[in-house]
Amino acid sequence: MTGASCSKNWPENLGPVLCVVGARPNFMKMAPILRAFAGHELAIPTRLIHTGQHYDREMNDRLFEDLRLPRPDVNLGVGSGTHAVQTAEIMKRFEPQVDESGASCILVVGDVNSTLACTLVGVKKGVPVAHVEAGLRSFDRGMPEEINRVLTDQVADLLYTSERGALDNLRREGISPARVEFAGNVMIDSLIANRQYARRPAEILEAAGFDASIALSPAGYAVATLHRPSNVDREETLRPLLETLREASARLPLVFALHPRTRGNIERFGLDALVAGKRIALLPPQGYLEMLGLMAGARLVLTDSGGMQEETTALGIPCLTMRENTERPITVEQGTNTVVGRDREAILAGVAEVVAGGGKRGRLPELWDGHAAERIAAHLAAWLAARGGRGT
Ligand code: UD1
Repeated sequence: MTGASCSKNWPENLGPVLCVVGARPNFMKMAPILRAFAGHELAIPTRLIHTGQHYDREMNDRLFEDLRLPRPDVNLGVGSGTHAVQTAEIMKRFEPQVDESGASCILVVGDVNSTLACTLVGVKKGVPVAHVEAGLRSFDRGMPEEINRVLTDQVADLLYTSERGALDNLRREGISPARVEFAGNVMIDSLIANRQYARRPAEILEAAGFDASIALSPAGYAVATLHRPSNVDREETLRPLLETLREASARLPLVFALHPRTRGNIERFGLDALVAGKRIALLPPQGYLEMLGLMAGARLVLTDSGGMQEETTALGIPCLTMRENTERPITVEQGTNTVVGRDREAILAGVAEVVAGGGKRGRLPELWDGHAAERIAAHLAAWLAARGGRGT
């Protein structure tokens, strides 16, 4: 078992908590949770199960190292596939893990296919499921993540939320507030714990063979990422977005970290020329500490990521979200985020504002304080103890 698994204090009739990760955005959420479980007075025993949804060194191993995550106890090795194949394969391979471990609880994070697949396995076997980052809604059922969120929250037993508005979303879906606990944002726990280890932008650019003066000049640079299927899977959407980013780079040099899905589609549609040139530094997917350093040093972030909307708010860096909606409205209401969609004028106006010395300022939302995982550990341990285990 992971970490402090051989707990002397944990009730004998309670098995370990199965902690599930699958894809890149899960890792920064799980790292502080595992640390908080190990540090809890009962030393909550855990088993870390990796579904293998993400498997590349760049998408996986480097983040494990950066976040000091323990090696998974099990890797289910599912890899890529259609949503149906990936979800079904995770369920098939996860079920024996639940049986063999005598788990007292399954803990899932975020909104990826692994989150939903393992939740379904757990609830159908009568093993309680806790969902961290519950209740976020984009209200866009065209997003696979929205389907994963809605379904996971419907059936999970405990819902830990990262912003207060999430409770309203859950209530509207008929979910009892008794299942919901406002814990704060575990992703920001990771950011606060790792800020001091963030890598220097100039070094990252140099190591990738780019002109480090981009990062050092007082004019600064912007960071860009894109990976949502709705933005990158069709040439009609990807081409104009890359054209707009190219125009933006004339004002502010771009450091563009490419997700494998996006890199593949740029090649497939023959759009390489749009991301070539001196003012665009094209990087592979970055490690956690590299991305943290790049964001912290940037004037602006342009992204369609969920997590980076929150991280930029915590760092106080203006963010333009290239999506039609956000499931994280607090980053717009209180943070530094502006939702601009694929609107060329809005994106270029946002860039111009930053170049002129402006850009959205914000404040840190409630309970984004570096202690969310500790609150989850305390609540979950008490809940499991009160509920009792097998044989009680
Ligand atoms: C998944 C999540 C998304 C999250 C994103 C972060 C779902 C539904 N989506 O999307 O919410 O924001 O992760 O990255 O779970 N690939 C590699 N190497 C890898 C992993 C994937 O090359 O390590 C390739 C795959 O072959 C595939 C593409 O990247 O072509 C997409 O991978 P997949 O895991 O299916 O979805 P993501 O787009 O990464």
